[in-house]
Amino acid sequence: MEKDIQKVYFSGEDIQNIVSRLGKQISEDYKDKNLLLVSILKGSVVFMADLMRSITIPCRIDFMSVSSYGSGTKTSGVVKIQKDLDINLEGYDLLIVEDILDSGKTLSYVRKILEARNPASIGICTLFDKPERREADVYADYSGAEVPDEFIVGYGLDYDEKYRNLPYIGVLKPEIYAE
Ligand code: IMP
Ligand code: MG
Repeated sequence: MEKDIQKVYFSGEDIQNIVSRLGKQISEDYKDKNLLLVSILKGSVVFMADLMRSITIPCRIDFMSVSSYGSGTKTSGVVKIQKDLDINLEGYDLLIVEDILDSGKTLSYVRKILEARNPASIGICTLFDKPERREADVYADYSGAEVPDEFIVGYGLDYDEKYRNLPYIGVLKPEIYAE
């Protein structure tokens, strides 16, 4: 796996610093609210596990799975709910936890369907943001770091369902995509 990586963008330590900054900010902002973290599977699962432990106020968690990508590196525009939430959202201050905001098509769809379920409020926390690539009108309330228009893997992010278990963020060697 390591041999497929061309360069490391964020080390495990860089990521931990980013995540604890986000956790601190969220704990402050939501201290008088009814926080529910909603992780969008599968990419945000590693981020979610670290973020929830850096949050120091009571919160609940839930998971939702949507598909937006095939095995390539671009959003198809077709978003499908694969697994829905268990919790009824009424009265909760929802914070959607996402790995990366790219075209924004996935999150603008997810946000729309969750808004229709009448949560008290709805916010977005993304670990990474690629603002240059935005097509949908969606922005993050909390963003860990902006990244350039390059495909990154690791820390939950995949290429063809692989590399999610890398403990850092890297860019793959070009020959991996050619295979
Ligand atoms: P969007 O709908 O284009 O914003 O796509 C968002 C989803 O695409 C993310 O949740 C990721 O699963 C995936 N994605 C976007 N960019 C990358 C990347 O650089 N590496 C891995 N997955 C990515
Ligand atoms: Mg993905």
